[in-house]
Parts: sequence; C-alpha cells; structure tokens
Amino acid sequence: MAREFSTVGVVGLGTMGAGIVEVFARNGIDVVAVEISAPALERGRATLKGSTDRAVAKGKLAEADRDALHERVHFAVGLEALHSVDLVIEAVPEHLDLKQRIFAELDRVCRPETILATNTSSLSVTEISVATSRPNQVIGIHFFNPAPVMKLVEVVRTVVTAPEVVADVEALCARLGKVDVTINDRAGFIANALLFGYLNHAVGMFESHYATREDIDAAMKLGCGLPMGPLALMDLIGLDTAYEILDTMYRRGGRDRRHAPVPLLKQMVTAGLLGRKSGRGFYTYERPGSPVVVPDEATPLATDGALADGARAIAKVGVVGSGTMATGIIEVFAKAGYEVVSVTRGMEKSAKVCEAVKTSLNKGVVRGKLAEADRDAALGRISWSATLDHLADVDLVVEAVVEELSVKKALFASLDEICKPGVVLATTTSSLPVIDVAMATQRPADVVGLHFFNPAPVMPLVEVVRTIRTSPEATATARAVCAALGKTGVVCGDRSGFIVNALLFPYLNDAVKMLEASYSTADDIDHAMKLGCGYPMGPFELLDVVGLDVSLAIQRELYLELREPGFAPAPLLEHLVTAGYLGRKTRRGFRDHSHR
Ligand code: CAA
Repeated sequence: MAREFSTVGVVGLGTMGAGIVEVFARNGIDVVAVEISAPALERGRATLKGSTDRAVAKGKLAEADRDALHERVHFAVGLEALHSVDLVIEAVPEHLDLKQRIFAELDRVCRPETILATNTSSLSVTEISVATSRPNQVIGIHFFNPAPVMKLVEVVRTVVTAPEVVADVEALCARLGKVDVTINDRAGFIANALLFGYLNHAVGMFESHYATREDIDAAMKLGCGLPMGPLALMDLIGLDTAYEILDTMYRRGGRDRRHAPVPLLKQMVTAGLLGRKSGRGFYTYERPGSPVVVPDEATPLATDGALADGARAIAKVGVVGSGTMATGIIEVFAKAGYEVVSVTRGMEKSAKVCEAVKTSLNKGVVRGKLAEADRDAALGRISWSATLDHLADVDLVVEAVVEELSVKKALFASLDEICKPGVVLATTTSSLPVIDVAMATQRPADVVGLHFFNPAPVMPLVEVVRTIRTSPEATATARAVCAALGKTGVVCGDRSGFIVNALLFPYLNDAVKMLEASYSTADDIDHAMKLGCGYPMGPFELLDVVGLDVSLAIQRELYLELREPGFAPAPLLEHLVTAGYLGRKTRRGFRDHSHR
C-alpha cells in the first residue's frame, strides 16, 4: 500500500514553492511552508494569497475552500519546523551548493523515514542526494509553472532512489490530480531539455534585432498554437531561474552552444529585470507579480524601423501559382475585398484553381462562416489569366509557385519587366533566401517575403520577410496588407526558417534525439510537452502531421545555413525517412511503433 502523506514541508516560497504549497493544501494535505527570513516568508504568503484570490475570482475555487486551504498552511522561518513532516520538497534557487547545504540540514532535522525531494529543474538530483545520509530516499519532484495550473510532474529517480519511494511519490502525484512521467536523472529532464534551447534561441533572435519581442511571441503563438510566446514565457519562469537552468544545462548537457545563455539574459538579470516577479523583464507589467502587460518606453531592442509608416495603397493584387497555397491566398485576398488577378500556366490550371477556390468558399457558406452574398462578391473580384501580362496594373504580386530557386528567379525577372514601378513583389517561399529572388529584379527594395501558413484561409499568421535590400515602405505595406487580411504579420530578417520554423524544428529534432537516446518514450515526451508547457500537440504528434520528410528537409536547411552543430538532423529521423516512415501520410511515423 502506498505511504500516506498527511503533512509535507516546502522549503523556499518563490514562484514555484508558493505554487507547490497551494497544490498540496488544495488537495487536503497540511503544509509546513518554510523560508529563510521573515520578509521572504511574507512574500511567499502574499504570493499564495494572490494566486488563491485569483482562483476565487475566476470561479475555480470557492471562498470557503480558499479559507480552508490557507488554514492547512503553517508558515515558519527555518528548517527546524520540518521535524515531523512526511515529505519535504525543496524549491530554493538553482545553486547546487545551496541545495546541498539544505539537504544536509534536512537530513539532520527530519525523521529518518521522511522522503526528501527537490524541485530542481536542471541540477543533478544524485549530486543533491549525496549530501544526505539517505540518498535512497531522495527524489526529484519537478512541477511546472504555474504549479496550480500545469498538470505535469516529472518524477526523477536517481540510480539509488528506492523503488518504493518512486511508487509512493507517483501515487501522491495522482492524489494531487497531476500526471507524472518518471525518468532518470539527466540535465533538464524531458521538458526543460526540449524547452530551453528554444527559449534561448528566441532570446538570441531578439538580441540580434532579428524581430521584435511582440513579433517573436506572436509568431509562436499563432504559428504553433502555443499558449505563450517564448519571451513572455521567459518572463513567467523568471530570467534569473532561466539563466541558471541554461547555465547548468550547458555544463551538464555536453556544452551544447544552444544552451549557453544569450549574453542579454545575464545583463537583464544584473539589471534586476527578472520578469513578471520583478514587474519587468522582456515586457513591463502592471506591478511585480502581475500578469498584466503595460506599455513601456520604447527600448532600442523593442522597436524597429520596419514598423515605420509609409505603407503604399494596395487595391489590386496578382497571385501567381496554382497549388494549394496559391489557391488559399487568392481566397484570402478576395474575401478581404481586394481585386485579384490569378495567373497560372494555362487555362486548364486556371479552371482547377477556380474550382478549388469555389469549393473552399462554399465550405465556408455551408459551415455558416460566410454569407452567400459575400461568397459571390469574393468570386466576382477574381479574374483568371494564363499570362503574366495581366499583372501590368496590379499594386502587389504574390508569387506562390514551386519551391525552386531557378523558377522563382525567372518569374521575378519577368515581373520586373511587366509590373509598374512601386509595386510590392512578394514571394511566399518558406525555404529559399528572399534576397536571391529579390536580386533577380532591378528593384530589390520592393521585394519582400510573405510567408503564409497552410491552410492560408485559416491560419492567422504571416511572416513578413525583409531582406537587407527591402525598403521600410515595402515592409510597412506588406504588414498593412496582412492586417487588412485579418492576419497578424510579423516582421523578421531573411534567415533560414524565418521565425517559426527556425524555432520549431530544432525542438522537434531534439525530441527525436531524446527518443533515440532511449531517455523516454514518444508518448511520455508528448505528454510532458502538452501537460507541462500547454503545447497543443506533442513533438511526435506534430512530426507525424507535418511529415517526417518535410521536417527533415527543413532541419537540414537550418543546419546548412546556420552551421550550428546542435541542429544536425537526428539520425533516427533520417533513417525513418529513408525507410518510408513519413508520418500520417504514409500511416507510419512516430505513432506507429513497429519500427522499434
Ligand atoms: N488554481 C486553479 N486554477 C487556476 C489558478 C489557480 N491558482 N490560477 C489560474 N487558474 C486557471 C484559470 O482560471 C484558467 O482556467 P480556464 O482556462 O478554465 O479559464 C487557467 O488556469 C489559465 O489561467 P489564466 O486564465 O490566468 O491565464 P491564461 O489563460 O492566460 O493561461 C498560463 C496562463 C496557464 C500560464 C498559459 O499561458 C500557459 O499554459 N503557458 C505556458 C506555461 C508553461 O509553459 N509553463 C512551463 C514553464 S517551464 C517550467 O515551469 C519548468 C521549469 O523548471 C522552469
């Protein structure tokens, strides 16, 4: 029978510790909540009060239950108060020596049968455990921020943790309404090992002025359906904590450069910009601890010349191409009230595109999303052509032809001859350098990337790619057009993967490497990312949907352009693609386990 935990101790009442106290007390368990000093204790008490008050305000907790919850918490200064608890969870800052000192002290203070747990997210549980005389009763219990909301707990066993301690802690997690994944002691465990390379990469993009904080965050929220963008998440985690985690992962995880904290992080920590908890990090908050973002003075890193005014008026748009992307884009522009000229290579193709647009618009009508009159008006705005000459009077051209540089370059050279001056020429390429296409014309200042996501009528995001030759007016025009289409246009530089793919695919590739190393299963890794970080899909579910071949191709390009050793495609991904396991489209990918 699993051990009964009636009283637990929590050491350290920062963001995580206070959240952990709330989780236990909410589930009927008495908590001794310990801090190092009276002021720190008061801060912890205030954090708990703020969180439970918010839960009441949102209807998640009855007032009486909140009061009962608080009655279960006994606050104390000093570890001595933990002499009779059944379990202690330590949640102090991520410094090994500090944790080791606390564990040595806990070993002295606590009863011999008490389980000692650490909430560390990157340090070695084993190294912490050897500071005690009972390493077999030491375990990692890693909650996710905000602890009362996120469902995942990573249970970390060391090589000496007793199996019954693991079983008792797993049963406790179930009692708390959490889902646990049990894993061995490795830097970053599952979720942080996959998350922090991505977060650090996003900070690097911001630091290098590649895109603004708002655009980086919007790209990942709208492009991948994540609950928060990476910089907002950094603010939630705390920049000091994030720095420590990255630093530890860099040292413990094989000195992967992607985990070397971006210098800006250290500067922000030194300047006291710790994120939400201090009221300012990448964003500024109403007050310390508040989730409400307020406008702040424009810091040099937060503004961008590309957002300047000067957008040109666009009334008529040419769309070149006949694939799914071109079809979707034609629909999007026509629905938004633009006059559209569709150009394909032959009237047969035009007829097909026309049919596809009609079918899609009709679907909108059947689903009650589009009035019949609006469908007819949209169709009435489109003209069909098999020659580029009809683009002579358009204000914007959107190219959506095959992803081959020679084809695109030839097309842009022709557009240069046909289109009037001042027209914005856009390519929808997702993988080729926009500057290569731009330099095929005599007017590179007017060339931008407009990277729509598939299916274009549904996806809310467009990446607006400006090359080193693109004029601010062309960028502003592209962004204004996105807004008129009801999309969010995020502006970024002309690098492989733009924002979304550059941040997403290395993370997917890392998940494959983790599976390949037999650290965890595809199911547990998917669970960890969904329940720990609120991702709508786990990495393996997503790889199967996107296609393993497509994912491999994107990852290869990132690797080739950025020469980052950590971006090398996972051999398992290469092998699966070679074996024809391409994901959903072949019915075999990561979710089909027959390859193991
Ligand atoms: N008790 C119970 N429920 C609560 C609560 C509490 N104390 N506080 C908030 N909630 C509920 C809210 O009522 C809300 O419920 P509904 O969705 O049913 O309305 C839900 O939790 C979300 O809360 P909010 O409405 O306040 O906020 P939101 O919708 O903007 O979501 C978020 C906020 C949960 C943080 C979300 O943005 C999210 O999931 N972000 C990702 C967080 C993440 O990735 N965490 C992991 C970080 S890494 C880590 O923690 C490990 C490490 O070692 C650093």
